[in-house]
Amino acid sequence: MVSIPNTKTYCEFPYLSSLQFISTRIHNIEFQDQEFLVELPLCIHSNLRVLPHLHLMAGGIDASAAGDQQYDRMEMLKAFDQTEAGVKGLIDSGLTKIPKIFVRPSEDLAQDQLTYKNIQVQVPVIDLSGILDADRRKQIVEQVRMASETWGFFQVVNHGIPPTVLDGMIDGIMKFNEMDVEEKRRYYSRDLTRRVRFISNFDLFASKTANWRDTMNISFPNQIDSEKLPASCRDNTVEYINHVKILGKTLLELLAEALGLCPDHLNNMECSKGHQVSCHYYPACPEPELTLGATKHSDPGFLTILLQNQISGLQVLYQDQWVNVEPTPGGLVVNIGDLLQLVSNGRFISNKHRVIANSTGPRISVAYFFSGPISEVKTYGPIKELISEENPAKYRDLLLTEYMGRFMKTGLDDENWGIDYYKL
Ligand code: OGA
Ligand code: NI
Repeated sequence: MVSIPNTKTYCEFPYLSSLQFISTRIHNIEFQDQEFLVELPLCIHSNLRVLPHLHLMAGGIDASAAGDQQYDRMEMLKAFDQTEAGVKGLIDSGLTKIPKIFVRPSEDLAQDQLTYKNIQVQVPVIDLSGILDADRRKQIVEQVRMASETWGFFQVVNHGIPPTVLDGMIDGIMKFNEMDVEEKRRYYSRDLTRRVRFISNFDLFASKTANWRDTMNISFPNQIDSEKLPASCRDNTVEYINHVKILGKTLLELLAEALGLCPDHLNNMECSKGHQVSCHYYPACPEPELTLGATKHSDPGFLTILLQNQISGLQVLYQDQWVNVEPTPGGLVVNIGDLLQLVSNGRFISNKHRVIANSTGPRISVAYFFSGPISEVKTYGPIKELISEENPAKYRDLLLTEYMGRFMKTGLDDENWGIDYYKL
């Protein structure tokens, strides 16, 4: 290996502006019979192609310095978005360092060091078998109550959805993401009126740091129009959705009973309407300690049912510490959303959670949100039966459309948008 005395540009592509710089790759090349260590910045050109911009660097590699000089966040976000290939597109281009738009601020990283302890507690796992037997149901309702009041999270097993349907859904999402990028681009869109959209970071331009994640979003009021789904995952998705809709209603019955209400109360309030399904794909990350798969947040709707493949990453905040929600074979994660916290007058908690990035992958998860009738003019507030003189309402009523609109406009990392805004 020879050292290069001065920084010298070996080859320039004059039509590339420095603002299109995304990341770097290190290569060994031979030049005039000598071996050089070469840093190749990866640039995203406005015609959406990833091009190498070749520089020789003095005295070895200093990728971060090169990045600092040329960092214009908004331009990089736009360049990344215009590739319409998501995070997987970056990985497929062979990058070995993550672009700066994904790097968390150093104060966030330091804060994690302070709060991280390896505590040995686990999110409760609730066995739903025997749910129609009166005594057994009482036990299950009690477990659901405790988990919803303390964790806001639990896992369910023996929930009635066959393992083949769960595996099929994961498989469909894998196939969709592995499709040719030109095929996937047909779905890439930030237009919220589109029922099926592929997007990397719905809050890309609002959040402080981009997440290491691509998502296919599916939304429908009651019935999915299967023709809109990509063929690569159509049948499996329709089958999975049909099952989860039933499970959602069952869980809302158990949750209503856990609040001391009649089983139909939450379903009659239309909590199981408004279906939004986020099918996430978290590629393996070359520098997982610098970024996140999903920023700390709580879910806006009533209830979330989450399917994950066997790669961990989901964490929930419990007693001020991050606890891994490890995948349970055949299990599904259930969590309380902000709207259920509101209507339960704060009895059930919509807990903060996040997804860490992984050096292995891809991690696949499917978050099924029961968001309520979001396209209707509907208000929600604490359930009358749950408030009294001794236990007054803790929240004011909200208009569902306005509340969801605010969520879509802000970033996951915006601490100010959530349900606390409606606190009395
Ligand atoms: C979400 C979410 C977790 C995961 O989509 O809101 O928290 O494991 N997902 O993907
Ligand atoms: Ni979430």
